[in-house]
Amino acid sequence: MSFFDRIFKTNKDSSPVTVAEPKTPEESNITTVMSEKVKFSIDGKECLADKGENLVEAAKANGVYIPTLCHLEGIKPAGSCRICNVKINGRFMTACTTNVADGMVIENSTPDIEELRKIIVETLFVSGNHYCPACEKSGNCELQALGYKFTMLVPRFPFEFEEKAVDACSDKLYIDRNRCVLCKRCVRSIKTEDGKSIFAFKNRGHHAMINLDHKLANLMTDEQAQEAMDTCPVGSILKKERGFVDPIGSRKFDKTPIGSEIESVTK
Ligand code: SF4
Ligand code: FES
Repeated sequence: MSFFDRIFKTNKDSSPVTVAEPKTPEESNITTVMSEKVKFSIDGKECLADKGENLVEAAKANGVYIPTLCHLEGIKPAGSCRICNVKINGRFMTACTTNVADGMVIENSTPDIEELRKIIVETLFVSGNHYCPACEKSGNCELQALGYKFTMLVPRFPFEFEEKAVDACSDKLYIDRNRCVLCKRCVRSIKTEDGKSIFAFKNRGHHAMINLDHKLANLMTDEQAQEAMDTCPVGSILKKERGFVDPIGSRKFDKTPIGSEIESVTK
């Protein structure tokens, strides 16, 4: 392992945590509860999962796609984008921050929920500057793919056209804040081995923006820079000196719509 490999890691790549042998009856009970199965339904489909499993992941295991943007499997959810809104027992809730429980009745693909998701996608498009045809992430961009999924033709809301500074000061990465959807995936998952964040938010509310620690970023390997780029759901984090290696038209969502790999599992 190289020096840099030892310095950097991503949370999602870290080795599985070793669980100590339960020592007390209470600890044994916890283990039993964690493996308990629960039944729930999504749009009338009967589903089964471990009690307490994250709803997005539980749905996925049952062949149901719940759209997400800020969610990253294995990383503590932020619940910031709201794309994953579903109705649970009649109430709107974000699926990525909800754990399944026995008897839950979940609505996922109803017209009102789909409309809400479409509005969220449109809002994200008008609050940033997204020039898909010229973006290196086109075809691999989850926001763009969600725009297609919800048949967004033209956003109904006025564009903000706010000018946001780009940051090209680090050796390997280029940050275009005009495309950032403030999902915090990079902040939550790309860290040094001793837990230091390479990405962080600056300012709050409407003025919030993503910032890069240049010193730490300059120590990243090519693989780690690529990992950061891949973690970003849009084209806000781009790896320098590499562009359009995979031609437009041959990228992930150019071939199959977002979520189709999950729903095809049970078809
Ligand atoms: S840079 Fe990308 S990953 Fe980071 S907050 Fe913005 S959109 Fe999310
Ligand atoms: S994916 Fe659930 S709030 Fe973003």
